Amino acid sequence: MPCPCCQPPDIDGIESFFDSARAKTEADAYLRAGLDGRSARLIAYLLRNAGGQLRLLDIGGGVGGVHYELLRRGVADSAVAVEASSAYIEAARSIGRELGLDDRVNYLHADFARSADAIDAADAVILDRVICCYPLLDDLLNASADKAGRFLALSYPRAKWWVFLTFKLFNLFLRLKRSNFRTYLHPHSEVHAIAAKKGLEPVHADTQGLWQITVFARA
Ligand SMILES: C[S@@+](CC[C@H](N)C(=O)[O-])C[C@H]1O[C@@H](n2cnc3c(N)ncnc32)[C@H](O)[C@@H]1O
Repeated sequence: MPCPCCQPPDIDGIESFFDSARAKTEADAYLRAGLDGRSARLIAYLLRNAGGQLRLLDIGGGVGGVHYELLRRGVADSAVAVEASSAYIEAARSIGRELGLDDRVNYLHADFARSADAIDAADAVILDRVICCYPLLDDLLNASADKAGRFLALSYPRAKWWVFLTFKLFNLFLRLKRSNFRTYLHPHSEVHAIAAKKGLEPVHADTQGLWQITVFARA
């Protein structure tokens, strides 16, 4: 089997894994209970340090909890959400209508790494549990960092043996289910190296369960 880093990313795998049933479960959870703990921790630094209203670029924003929360709390004035799953975009739009915030978010159905040239920069770029869904870290993170005017906020799997094992077992489960979707454990050193090369330095680190949270800011 060829190395995943040499293959074109399987966006169909993402589209079929992040389907309407999964989107509905996540949308219901957000409307019932608000932002989950990981996403709340991811935006905590932005809530404290925005110093004005941010323009957001939420890449792989799912059903939209992170950008809706930042809009609701007055830290953001607008958002562009780039999503590879059409079902998640539909769910996010529906939440936006329910919250009366749909006119402040522009949704684009795309693989961000393949369409970044057509997308404007923003004050804060967010990738919450996204780089672990995409094989080509270089393509996705370089393009994301280029768009980050002030902040690049990421969550991704922690570098712990039990997290490694969890993701390996999950990939085995996906393989047995004949899903085309896979998860990827990109080395933290590569994440930091790409951010540093783009002039972004780490200003905040936290963890939540399986997840590492890192916020980078433009030096
Ligand atoms: C695990 S979900 C996380 C959703 C949301 N950020 C959250 O934490 O609840 C990963 C999301 O990233 C999206 N995604 C993955 N790679 C992407 C890419 N290259 N461009 C746009 N969206 C992408 C998927 O469609 C999926 O909705």
